[in-house]
Amino acid sequence: MEEKKYKILIVDDVKDSIELVSRNLEQAGYITFTATSPIKGSEILKNNDIDLVITDLRMPDIDGIAFTRYIKENYKNVEIIMITGYPSIESAVDAVKTGVSEFLPKPFTDDELFATVEKVLFKLKVKNVLNKEDKGKTFVFQGILGNSDKMKRIFELIDKASQTTATVLITGESGTGKEMVARAIHYSSPRASQSFVPVNCGGIPEELLESELFGYVKGSFTGANETRAGFFQTADGGTIFLDEIGETSLSMQVKLLRVLQDKTVYMIGSRKPQKIDVRVICATNKNLEELVKKGIFREDLYFRLNVINIELPPLRERREDIPLLLEHFSAKYSKELGKEKPTFTENAVKSLSEYFWPGNVRELENVIQRLIIMKEDNIIDVPDLPSLMRFNLPYKNDLTRKLSEIECDYIKDVYESQGKNKSKTSEILGIDRKTLREKLKRCQIEIDEE
Ligand SMILES: Nc1ncnc2c1ncn2[C@@H]1O[C@H](COP(=O)(O)OP(=O)(O)OP(=O)(O)O)[C@@H](O)[C@H]1O
Ligand SMILES: [Mg+2]
Repeated sequence: MEEKKYKILIVDDVKDSIELVSRNLEQAGYITFTATSPIKGSEILKNNDIDLVITDLRMPDIDGIAFTRYIKENYKNVEIIMITGYPSIESAVDAVKTGVSEFLPKPFTDDELFATVEKVLFKLKVKNVLNKEDKGKTFVFQGILGNSDKMKRIFELIDKASQTTATVLITGESGTGKEMVARAIHYSSPRASQSFVPVNCGGIPEELLESELFGYVKGSFTGANETRAGFFQTADGGTIFLDEIGETSLSMQVKLLRVLQDKTVYMIGSRKPQKIDVRVICATNKNLEELVKKGIFREDLYFRLNVINIELPPLRERREDIPLLLEHFSAKYSKELGKEKPTFTENAVKSLSEYFWPGNVRELENVIQRLIIMKEDNIIDVPDLPSLMRFNLPYKNDLTRKLSEIECDYIKDVYESQGKNKSKTSEILGIDRKTLREKLKRCQIEIDEE
């Protein structure tokens, strides 16, 4: 790949110092822009694809921290280096919170400047390899991979959801990435620097769940030896992720509904309402509408939760993503295990792409991990795959298909395996040649001229 020329914007009210920095960076092969105030800087940001901003902390009117905040809100992929003349811990902490990547205390040498710039750009490069567009396609959003249209749509939804505080309901089969999506929403929202608190509602016994969620005051029940905050209080200012929301009891649903309506919680044993500012994201692999119909899930709560719905498609409905995920997980696990990255033969990729993947991305991840652990050499071919994936027999694993479709697939496989020989095919299938011809026609399988 061609080396990208990074674009750096330098903002400082002291003209001499920006010119010096700019000259040095230009010589090192970067494209630079300069501005003597954040206002002028913001104009440049608007019109150029800036990768990195180097800004002074102390400036009249708008300081470096306010500017950083502005950049992060408007251009979340832009990295920031802050030059500080008066290194103070407090301002450093503030700046980190607002999204500064590195500090450069004044005075600095050219080498220090280059080292800091390279360090930050390296981070950006890594992010770009995984993260960025390739011919306008997004492959990764906050660690979630996908180049299928369905996943691109999901990325858009995550992006939209992160700009609001509306409640989000994430639905999808097990292993489709629901928790990843919840995290992505939080970490791309303005709440990113606050807590993300995941709660597995299905994994905590009913009685415990209430005290875990809302906290309790000392003496409110046997064993309550101290006052303890719950997950909601911990998530104040941030996001709570209520996973497996479909598993909650009706009485817990009433309590959750109240919290969502009033934005207040009561600790167990206390009558004092506590105002909380928590963004709620829920997930379930159940069909909540069905549960509502059955009377197991409250309809009013369902509507409260389902303000934004993100429905994650199963992996088999976006098979285009499989090669990308294969590549990603084999790089990840070979690195972790200190092995060379394996190469998948074309047939292996084909078999993996055609498998039904009932456990979705998690299953794929596990399969790759196991393959890398087990494999001595670094070529992965069809015989190395788990037996379920070795054959192109999707009708074996998919229990939602019509008999007629499965029949066509099977006929096609046998017909092709017999070199399109109709006598042999009809013999294997146990039908006469006339019936075979009819079926081939119905299934739109091309018949070779005899
Ligand atoms: N699009 C994706 N890109 C990269 N990794 C993914 C993707 N989707 C899922 N994963 C990985 O798959 C695993 C399962 O993801 P996650 O826990 O988010 O799924 P889930 O939908 O919450 O599953 P469950 O319903 O079983 O809780 C994780 O290890 C995650 O890193
Ligand atoms: Mg999950």
